[in-house]
Amino acid sequence: MKKIAVLTGGGDAPGLNSAIRAVVVRSSQIGWQVLAVRNGWAGLLNGEISEFPLEEAEDLEMVGGTILGTSRTNPYKEDKGPERVKENLKKFGIDVLIAIGGEDTLGVANKLTQEGVPIVAIPKTIDNDLSVTDYCIGFNTAVERAAEAVENLHTTAKSHSRTLVVEIMGRHAGWITLQAGIAGGAHMILIPEVPFSINEVAEIVNGRKQKGKFYSIIAVSEGAKPADEEKFALQTEELDSFGHVRLGGIAKVLAKEIEERTGAETRSVILGHLQRSGPPSAFDRVMATRVGVHAVELVQKEDYGKMVCVKGEEVTSVNVGLAVGELKTVSPELYKMARIFFG
Ligand code: F6P
Repeated sequence: MKKIAVLTGGGDAPGLNSAIRAVVVRSSQIGWQVLAVRNGWAGLLNGEISEFPLEEAEDLEMVGGTILGTSRTNPYKEDKGPERVKENLKKFGIDVLIAIGGEDTLGVANKLTQEGVPIVAIPKTIDNDLSVTDYCIGFNTAVERAAEAVENLHTTAKSHSRTLVVEIMGRHAGWITLQAGIAGGAHMILIPEVPFSINEVAEIVNGRKQKGKFYSIIAVSEGAKPADEEKFALQTEELDSFGHVRLGGIAKVLAKEIEERTGAETRSVILGHLQRSGPPSAFDRVMATRVGVHAVELVQKEDYGKMVCVKGEEVTSVNVGLAVGELKTVSPELYKMARIFFG
C-alpha cells in the first residue's frame, strides 16, 4: 500500500482536475491512498494535507481550475522551507508526491528530487513553454478561448472601422498568441520571441486601409517587446516569489501608438484570466487523463524524479531536470510562416 500526495502549483489551468481524477481513480484501483495537498507548495509547508476520497473525483474531468487550490509559493524562498516540506511528507506518511505544474513548480520538484524526495511530475502551463514535452495541461483550452475571442472581435472591429489590439497571455513564449492569431484571423501577431517594430505595425494597418479594409486585429503577447527599445510602461514593480514581474498593459500602450501613427480609431482588449477559466477542452480532458494515468504507472515502477511527457502520439517520461532547463519557444521558422498572412 502506498500513500500518494498530489499538489498543483502556479497558475491554474483547465485540465488539472482531469489529471487529478486520473491519479485518484487509478491509485484507488491499485489499492493506494491519495492525499490532497492544498494550494501548491504552500500546503506542504503548512501541513494543509488531507485524504482525497474517491467520491470527490467523480465528474472532475469536466471541471476547470484545480480542486486542490494553487499558489505561487516557492519553498526555497521560505524560512527552512525544504526542511518543512520534508517534515510534513514524513508526518503524513507520504511515500510519493505527484507535483503538477509549470517551470516554477517543477523547478522546486527538481531540487527536492536532488535532495532525495520521491517525486513524479506532470507538465501544466497554458503558456506551453516547458521543453521536452509536446503537451502541457491547459494549453489547448487557452488557445481555443483566445482564438474564439480573436475571431469574434472581427465583427465589432468591422462595424466600427476600428483597429483592435488584443493582448494574450505568454510571458516568454508566444505559443497561445501565435496559434490563436492564426486560427482567429489576426492581421498581425506579435510575440516575445521576435521584437516588433511599431512602425511595421502601423504600416500593416495603413496598408489594409489602402486596400479598403478599415479594420485590423493585432494579436499581441503580454511579453512582446518593441525592437526599437522604446520605453513602454508595461509592468508593475510587483514580483512573485519566483521573481516574475506582473505583466499586463502592452495592448493599451500599443493601441495609443497605432492611433497616433495611423489615425485609425484603435481600442485594446486584454483577454487575461478568461483564457484559463472555465471547463477544459475535450483534448485537454483526454490528454490530462492520459498523463495522470502514466504518472501512476511511474509510481508503480518506483521510477521517481521523472516528468511525464508527450512525444507525438506517445506518453512517456524524462528526468524532471531536463524539463526545467530551457524554455520551449516559438521558432523563427514558425513565425516566418505566420507572417505570410499578415496584412
Ligand atoms: O501560468 C501562466 C500564466 O497564465 C501566464 O500566461 C501569465 O503571465 C501568468 O500566468 C499570470 O499570472 P497570475 O495568474 O498570477 O496573474
